[in-house]
Amino acid sequence: MFKSNIFTLFIFSIFVPRGFCELQFNNLHEKLVLSLIKAKPGTNVVASEVLVRLPLCKLASVAEGQAKVELMTALGYMDNTSLSAYYPGIKNAMKTMAITDLTLAHRIFVNYTKEIDPKFITYSVDNFGIRVEKVGFNYPKAATTHINNLISSITFKRITNILEDSDVNKQTQMIIVTAAHFKGTWEFPFDLRLTKLTKFQRLDGKVITIPMMSKTDPFQHVATGDCQAISIKFGNWRTTFTLVLPNSEQQLPALLDKIYNQKGYVENLVRSMNTRPMKVTFPRFKIKTFVDWTGFLKELGINSIFNATSSGLEGILINSTKPIALNKIKQKVYVQIDEVGVARFWNAINGAPQVPTQMPNFIDLPQFTADRPFYFEVSLDFDTARYKMFAGVYYGPEETPTNANDFHF
Ligand SMILES: *[C@@H]1O[C@H](CO)[C@@H](O)[C@H](O)[C@H]1NC(C)=O
Ligand SMILES: *[C@@H]1O[C@H](CO)[C@@H](O)[C@H](O)[C@H]1NC(C)=O
Ligand SMILES: *[C@@H]1O[C@H](CO)[C@@H](O)[C@H](O)[C@H]1NC(C)=O
Ligand SMILES: *[C@@H]1O[C@H](CO)[C@@H](O)[C@H](O)[C@H]1NC(C)=O
Repeated sequence: MFKSNIFTLFIFSIFVPRGFCELQFNNLHEKLVLSLIKAKPGTNVVASEVLVRLPLCKLASVAEGQAKVELMTALGYMDNTSLSAYYPGIKNAMKTMAITDLTLAHRIFVNYTKEIDPKFITYSVDNFGIRVEKVGFNYPKAATTHINNLISSITFKRITNILEDSDVNKQTQMIIVTAAHFKGTWEFPFDLRLTKLTKFQRLDGKVITIPMMSKTDPFQHVATGDCQAISIKFGNWRTTFTLVLPNSEQQLPALLDKIYNQKGYVENLVRSMNTRPMKVTFPRFKIKTFVDWTGFLKELGINSIFNATSSGLEGILINSTKPIALNKIKQKVYVQIDEVGVARFWNAINGAPQVPTQMPNFIDLPQFTADRPFYFEVSLDFDTARYKMFAGVYYGPEETPTNANDFHF
């Protein structure tokens, strides 16, 4: 029915012989972004679990039967209450992020028919953090243009062409798109004057020089047998950057396997961090990733909602015996990390000269230098939970692809 994209072909050519996927509790949190990272070794990746979870919570709220079981298991929820509590729990933190650093455009698009239950559309933003909109998929080309223009205008043209013509046809009933542009602003900026060209060892062993920012301060830090990690606060309430650095570039794949396989691996690292004065150096970077999650969700055991004849999502419709299913879930994320921080703005306002708060050089401080590929997370941290807003891997700078399909998974 639908033309499979390159990635779907790739993943299924590997996994097809396995009859079904065993359901695992909360595997979305543990495995979603990591399965993308593992599927694209050597490629810089950034993606958002939170932005997949929001629309899936919404669908789970109306799902029945097997679809409900699959969604609740993957989301890691025992009851409907947790489902409707997810967005209210992070709402204020996300809103704070959206004031300065985050531009977000996400929607559930359903076919323009009278049969959509108005209750599925109203209060969806308040309760589930995602808007539901009707669009006439009967006219595929117009629908694609409408969605792309909408996402492009909400993101100030930062995220364009989220859908391709092949994503929509006359059989399309529901598509989820999430687009996010994050430009982190530190609680305390890095001094631009301390950014220097520094050697970076790529996965293939080649050494290149790239701009790295640097700061000497007390940092949240932990070192284990396999890796070291630091956490640094952004200016936004509860938003934190965590960088997990393998002890050598060859150890990155093993580290990624650990994060994939061991429940709460990064959370445990963060929990065991201590504050210590040190010199921290890591690259400025930007990463843009375009992903079609459809195949990944099926791999994680979420199949029923995509079944065109029996999706368990019929609760979306009223006075109808027709089936309705999700056709696609696409995401485009752009993340940029550089020196900019909140205090720079204060200085601009006060007109005070910016003096780098360097610790005396004569103290022999420990150094944390991310001069090899690393894993990172941008999380929203609460006492009882840590939400992975973005996670990814940085392998070093890459040429901007001239062909849009280079970003295509
Ligand atoms: C949970 O929601 C489903 C609809 O998805 C509904 O059928 C079920 O009765 C609800 N369970 C409880 C305990 O409210
Ligand atoms: C989409 O809605 C139109 C208008 O109601 C309808 O004619 C068409 O059959 C619907 N498409 C699907 C796939 O249900
Ligand atoms: C869709 O669901 C029906 C009924 O449960 C099942 O018989 C069929 O095999 C499913 N199709 C796919 C592609 O999984
Ligand atoms: C659904 O069907 C019932 C019975 O035919 C009718 O009373 C009701 O108005 C319909 N609801 C909508 C929203 O069309």
